Amino acid sequence: MNPQPTEDKNKKLIEIKETANLGGGQKRIDSQHAKGKFTARERISFLLDENSFEETDSLVTHRSNEFGLEDQKFFGDAVVTGYGLINGRLVFVYAQDFTVLGGSLSEAVSEKICKVMDLAVQNGAPIIGLIDSGGARIQEGIDSLSGYAKIFQRNVIASGVVPQISVMMGPAAGGATYSPALTDFIFMVEGTGQMYITGPDVIRAVTSEEISHEELGGFQMHTQLSGVAHFSFEKEEITLQKVRELLEYIPQNNMEEPQVDENVEIQSSEILNQIIPDNPNEPYDMLTVINEIIDEESLFQVHEDFAKNIIVGFSRIGGQSVGIVAQQPEHLAGSLDVNASIKAARFVRFCDAFNIPLITFIDVPGFLPGVEQEKLGIIRHGAKLIFAYAEATVPKISILTRKAYGGSYIVMSSKNLNGDINLSWPTGEIAVMGAEGAVNIIHKKSISESESSEDLKTQLISEYEEKFMNPYVAASRGLIDDVITPSETRVKIIKSLKMLQNKRQNFPPKKHGSIPL
Ligand code: HXC
Repeated sequence: MNPQPTEDKNKKLIEIKETANLGGGQKRIDSQHAKGKFTARERISFLLDENSFEETDSLVTHRSNEFGLEDQKFFGDAVVTGYGLINGRLVFVYAQDFTVLGGSLSEAVSEKICKVMDLAVQNGAPIIGLIDSGGARIQEGIDSLSGYAKIFQRNVIASGVVPQISVMMGPAAGGATYSPALTDFIFMVEGTGQMYITGPDVIRAVTSEEISHEELGGFQMHTQLSGVAHFSFEKEEITLQKVRELLEYIPQNNMEEPQVDENVEIQSSEILNQIIPDNPNEPYDMLTVINEIIDEESLFQVHEDFAKNIIVGFSRIGGQSVGIVAQQPEHLAGSLDVNASIKAARFVRFCDAFNIPLITFIDVPGFLPGVEQEKLGIIRHGAKLIFAYAEATVPKISILTRKAYGGSYIVMSSKNLNGDINLSWPTGEIAVMGAEGAVNIIHKKSISESESSEDLKTQLISEYEEKFMNPYVAASRGLIDDVITPSETRVKIIKSLKMLQNKRQNFPPKKHGSIPL
C-alpha cells in the first residue's frame, strides 16, 4: 500500500482544524448570533491581545455513545481552551461553546478545563472562564457530575494562588454556577448572562412560584440583591474589556507584587478641607473624597450595586495598586450591615491574598441596629470583617474622615487590628457611641431628676462632644498616628505606602483559620 503523501496529510489537518473552528456548525453559530451572543472563539478574540491566542485540545471529542451521542461528536467538544496575553501578560482561558450541545459539560469538556486550570496554577497566571452552558451533559450522567467535582477541586486549589475570573455570557444552570461561585470575581453580561441552581420550571413544580429566567438569575438579581456577581455590563465586548482592565490592578499570582507606575504626580487637594459638613448627621459623597486622593480616574469599583453603604474597589495611589474600602455616608449613613460586612470582608481577603495594600476610609456610626439585622446574623457576618482585617498582613493604612463609633471603630482597620498607619482628619470622632446616646445612658438618672432636663441634656451632650468627639484622645494614646489636614491626605498615603513597601508580618503557622462562615 502506498503511504499517504505528506501534502495530503497536511491538507487533512487543515480541513480538521477548519471543521473544529466551526464548533457545532454554521447553523448553530447563526442561532447563537441571533440570540445576540458571540461564539466562544469570537469572545476569546475580544478578551485577549490581538493574535495572542494559542488553542489547546481542539481535537478532543467526547467518548459517550449513549442516547445518540455517538452521532454528535464535534472537534473540541463544548469548550474552547488555551492561553494568550492580556496587556502583554499571560492568562489561561476557557470559553464554553454553546453551539455544541448547549455548552454542556461532558467528561471530555471537564478534562480540557482542568488541563488549563492546572497550567494556570503551575505557571502562576490568571484563569478566566467564559460561561455559556446548559450545565451537566444530561446524557453522560455521573461522568459529567464527576467532571464538575474535578473543576471545583481545582478552583479551591487555585484560590489565593492565581486570580480566577468568571464571565457569565449565557445561561449557567445547576453545576455551571458553582465553579464561578468559587472564583474571585463574577462578571455578567446584562440581558444574556443568567445563573440559577434550578430554573423557573423546577421552581414552579416545587414551590408554585412563577418567575422568569431573567428575574430569577439575571444581572439585577445577582449584582444588586444576592451579591453573587460583582460586575455587570451592557454588551459582551464591554464586559470583556472590563475584565482586561481589572487584571491591570492585580498581580499574576500570590508570589508577585502588583505592577507599579512610577510616573505619577504627588499633589495635594484643597477641596478636601471643606468636604465634611458642619452638621455631623449630614451625608456627603465618599466617592468625591476617594477621587480627590487616588490617581486620576483610577477607581475600579467591585460590587458597586450591592451594599452601597460600603465602597470597595481597586485603585492606584502614586502609581501603586491598592484596594480601597470606604464607608458611604450617603447610604444607611455608612453603617455596617450584614451585606456590607460580607462585601468588605471578601474584598479585604482577596487583597491580602494577592499582596495589594489596603486603604480604608472611615466614617461609620456603628453596626446597623435592628431586629432584622440580628436575625440575619450581623454578629456572625460582622465577625467576618474583623477576621479579614485582623489576618491581613498587607500594608494597612486608614483615614478617619468623621465618625468611628463602637465596634465599627475597631473593625475598620484600627490600630489594634494591626493597622500600620492610622490617620485622622481634625473632623474625626472616636467614641463608644454618638454623644446623645452616650449621655442618655450615663446621665439617665440626673436628667430624669432634673427640673430643666432638656437644658441639662444639651449641656451634657456638648461636654461629652468636647471631651470625646475628636481624634485627639486616640492620638494621645497612639491609636491614631497623626491628625492631618485633609488636603495632605494623598501625600501622606503615598509616603506611607513607600515606607511599608517591604512590610513582612507572620503569624504562627497553622493549617488554616476558622473564619466564621
Ligand atoms: C445536553 C443540552 C443541555 C444539557 C442544552 N442542551 N442543555 N444537551 N445536556 N444539559 C442542548 C439542547 O438539547 C440543544 O441541542 C442545544 O443544547 C441548545 O439548547 P436549547 O434548549 O435549544 O437552547 P435555549 O433555548 O437557549 O435554552 C438554553 C437552556 C436550556 C436554558 C440552557 O437548554 C436548558 O434548560 N437546558 C437544561 C438545563 C439543565 O437543567 N441542566 C442540567 C442542570 S443539573 P440541539 O441539538 O437542539 O442544538 C446540573 C447538575 C450538576 O448541572 C450539579 C453539580 C453540582
